[in-house]
Amino acid sequence: MLLEILATLVVGAILYHYLFKKKDETLSMGDGWWGAGQRQDDDNEEIHPFKIETSDEELRDLFSRIDNTRYSEPLEGSRFNYGFNSSHLKKVVSYWKEGFNWKKQLEILNQYPHFKTKIEGINIHFLHVKPTNLPAGRRAKPLIMVHGWPGSFYEFYKIIPLLTDPTSHGLSDEHIFEVICPSIPGYGFSEASHKQGCDSVAVARIFYKLMRRLGFQEFYAQGGDWGSMICTILAQIAPSNVKGLHLNMVAVMSPKLSVVLSILLGQRFPGLFGFEEEDVRRMFPFMKKVVNHTVKESGYMHLQATKPDTAGCGLNNSPVGLAAYILEKFSTWTDRNFSDYEDGGLERKFTLDELLTNIMIYWLTGSIVSSMRFYKENVGKGIGVAKHDKLPVKVPTGVASFPNELLHCPLLWAKQKFINIVSFNYMPRGGHFAAFEEPELLAKDIQQFVGKVEQK
Ligand SMILES: *[C@@H]1O[C@H](CO)[C@@H](O)[C@H](O)[C@H]1NC(C)=O
Ligand SMILES: *[C@@H]1O[C@H](CO)[C@@H](O)[C@H](O)[C@H]1NC(C)=O
Ligand SMILES: *[C@@H]1O[C@H](CO)[C@@H](O)[C@H](O)[C@H]1NC(C)=O
Repeated sequence: MLLEILATLVVGAILYHYLFKKKDETLSMGDGWWGAGQRQDDDNEEIHPFKIETSDEELRDLFSRIDNTRYSEPLEGSRFNYGFNSSHLKKVVSYWKEGFNWKKQLEILNQYPHFKTKIEGINIHFLHVKPTNLPAGRRAKPLIMVHGWPGSFYEFYKIIPLLTDPTSHGLSDEHIFEVICPSIPGYGFSEASHKQGCDSVAVARIFYKLMRRLGFQEFYAQGGDWGSMICTILAQIAPSNVKGLHLNMVAVMSPKLSVVLSILLGQRFPGLFGFEEEDVRRMFPFMKKVVNHTVKESGYMHLQATKPDTAGCGLNNSPVGLAAYILEKFSTWTDRNFSDYEDGGLERKFTLDELLTNIMIYWLTGSIVSSMRFYKENVGKGIGVAKHDKLPVKVPTGVASFPNELLHCPLLWAKQKFINIVSFNYMPRGGHFAAFEEPELLAKDIQQFVGKVEQK
């Protein structure tokens, strides 16, 4: 008798667990502290204005290292297919020495207000740009924009005026933004974590604390690359604070069966998976366009997710090595066909001044190693295994899908994770560095997305 009652109870408990218990779909905020040594008392919450400055000594050191660079001859006809064509690298370097005007770029960098504040034991750098021409009675909408690797806050310099002062740039002023661009810890002017484990969940929480410290209860979040992952997690840990999430890169790390089926059958039966012609064009033949391309373009990721300190050592000592490593990404990730150009197509979408300014941010802050470590913290334990990878995102989401993005994510896939997609647009042109490359297209997409969210 006792045994029967026990058995009934156990079966009942199991049934209850599977049938009625609500799955825990929330990602807890957690806490952390990333300073050196023993954990100190709570952060001093002061916010300090900050200005980028460089000493003559730093610049002398930079240019003497540039002068001491050794180059290897590129293979005949290799263009960018073996990596950065070193003959072309010499041309970039000669511009760096003779044409590039750092003082002028410094003025450009300092045109927006920079700040630093200590969060979880480390100094976080950010831009906070308020609208200059806000019409009376209007309120600006706070928007946090997060960069990725190998970019920086500087990626947003061309889009900031379009969002904070749209009318002066011929855009609709229906939504005017107040833009906050933080540097990820260990990138540019944000202090690097001194402890292991500072991953995107930690960074999302740090940026949440930053936004609250700035007084924002509700805000929008935008990002691509790491910025996409960080903002996605931000929407998961603070769903009542993030009004809308806008992404220009989407990665679904823990795919369901329908994704696998759509890969196998999508080319022949696109309608079955809701694929548009454009999805088929971008993804098939899958072996060539996705698998081969990913293998070819993701070597850096394996390296950085395993031994960042070793790989980064040379880059942190050679400005030319650093430039080659980073700028190669601005070639191929802008357009995969650029590797067939002798000059990597670098100046088709960017100026050398822009590209070298981003390199200067990495060089002067000595942050390449800490920036690479972010891969180890995030994917070092495996892809798709973290709790946040498996949880849905419920806040209204907008996707700007650029044709030359590294990995195309069709709507069917995106919907598996983002259950409230309010806009999904195929952009006419542009690649991985959307804000830097196509600021106007991105700004307009953010505008229309926010319009849809506000209507609801
Ligand atoms: C490297 O680029 C230069 C142009 O800057 C070009 O003249 C040269 O042919 C290229 N070399 C290779 C191996 O593609
Ligand atoms: C994939 O890449 C390999 C090696 O570069 C090449 O031999 C193969 O033909 C490619 N496959 C497709 C389907 O493009
Ligand atoms: C690359 O070039 C091929 C062949 O010229 C073309 O079909 C394709 O659309 C190009 N891809 C991109 C991303 O521009």
